[in-house]
Amino acid sequence: MKIEKEDTTNATELNLFMKVQSIFHTPTCGRVNYFLNLLYMAGFHSKTFIVYDDYMTPKYAWDNIKHLIPNNKVIWEPFYGDGKSGEYLTELGFEVIHEPVDFFENDLGDIIVSNPPFSKCVKILEQLHHLDKPFILIMPTSKIFTNYFRKHFNTPDLQIVVPRNRIHFYKKINGISQQTNKCNFDCFYYCYKLDLDRGITFLGF
Ligand SMILES: C[S@@+](CC[C@H](N)C(=O)[O-])C[C@H]1O[C@@H](n2cnc3c(N)ncnc32)[C@H](O)[C@@H]1O
Repeated sequence: MKIEKEDTTNATELNLFMKVQSIFHTPTCGRVNYFLNLLYMAGFHSKTFIVYDDYMTPKYAWDNIKHLIPNNKVIWEPFYGDGKSGEYLTELGFEVIHEPVDFFENDLGDIIVSNPPFSKCVKILEQLHHLDKPFILIMPTSKIFTNYFRKHFNTPDLQIVVPRNRIHFYKKINGISQQTNKCNFDCFYYCYKLDLDRGITFLGF
């Protein structure tokens, strides 16, 4: 099954946000409006914030860990996005399968290396548990605290690689990937069955 490429527009969310704001636009609701404005400034109006799925990986994020990726394995980068992630991994010398196919309907390559759609992590981690193949996934640090993560990957085969600096993803806005330099969350590289030297590897020393 081919995946439709996503088109992100903030207009709908912005309109909705302004409508909600106008409901509370009375002197007695000043405090509510104040908090709505805070939420707006924090980015809650944007689809990228709500959906979490449009963060494209910059090349340096793969460059950072190229020494940890086995070079005799075929990589499956299953989440296509703008297609650049697979290109970057190929440029780094790896053999890569990176096609716009449904992750849940395929099982390709020897090792999964990707940055998945964060809104689908429950299903993705369940599927990864089922596939039981090595992976390196870039995901928010907060995922380690979730029950679904604990349920499937409470195992010594799970290792964490901590980037030296925050990864600033490209956000796909109106179909175009743009570097924003202000990602507001940190990520780990979650590694499974990589057999790294350490349970937690800090990059950049
Ligand atoms: C966070 S983006 C990352 C894209 C790319 N892997 C990268 O690192 O730049 C995740 C992408 O997964 C795609 N996606 C969502 N559901 C999917 C599915 N079931 N199978 C494959 N790709 C999916 C979305 O289109 C989204 O662009």
